[in-house]
Amino acid sequence: MGATEDAASRRPTPHRDIGAPYVGSSTAPGGSGDAGATWALLVAAGAGERLGLDRPKAFAELRGRPLLAESLERLDLSPWIDAIVVAAPNGWEEPVILLAEELAASKVVSCVTGGASRAESVRAALADVDEGALVVLVHDAARPLLEDQVVERVLGPLAEGFDGVVPAVPVSDTVKRVEGGVVAETLARDGLVAAQTPQAFLAPTLRRAFEGELAGVTDCASLVERRGGRVAVVDGDPRLFKVTTAADLALVEVLLA
Ligand code: C5P
Repeated sequence: MGATEDAASRRPTPHRDIGAPYVGSSTAPGGSGDAGATWALLVAAGAGERLGLDRPKAFAELRGRPLLAESLERLDLSPWIDAIVVAAPNGWEEPVILLAEELAASKVVSCVTGGASRAESVRAALADVDEGALVVLVHDAARPLLEDQVVERVLGPLAEGFDGVVPAVPVSDTVKRVEGGVVAETLARDGLVAAQTPQAFLAPTLRRAFEGELAGVTDCASLVERRGGRVAVVDGDPRLFKVTTAADLALVEVLLA
């Protein structure tokens, strides 16, 4: 059976009975295990200093709404996703909850305070995932243009025995490793890809991967790879670029217009 057929046979029924978003414990109203098999962790706790704003990147304005609204709404509407945990910037938990309420994002079961690094924010959000979860997706709020086809693509290989799945796009520039301002190595471009999110994992695999040291970790898949996990790569989406600068934000505005 192919990845698409396999994934389609596992398509969850849209699940909207979790109740109002709330902060804190992992137990959704209605009891533990109610929230379904596929959880999304939306990490939004970065400062986003390169945007030069007076607020965290997740609250940069995008077409009159916080940047976070775009990915939160898309995940909430995805029929593949049963429950969502958001990692908020320290002190911004309440605005995240209010935003989820405004969007009627009923799959949001909790909002945790993010950590000092992306990996620490993921760890904090993972702690709020129900024991009964089978699959966990991790997505950057800084990648607002998430299409549901990408969510479907990253889920497929998990049913074929992979531990994790990464969406990626080809690298178009020549990539060099530089030491002290001098080229140490030019990497062969063949086989090089740029990893995006959402990255999908079997829940127990991701939990084990996050038990160890997180220093220097820039994506979840690398932790799974480090433990010998098999990580599949599927087609990403050029529109899923990460918003880092004001120019990136302006481009998202144009693409949404
Ligand atoms: O910093 P960068 O843009 O690479 O972060 C990628 C994603 O990780 C963003 O959505 C950001 O909000 C999130 N992040 C986080 N906690 C941190 C740093 C980044 O949730 N401490």
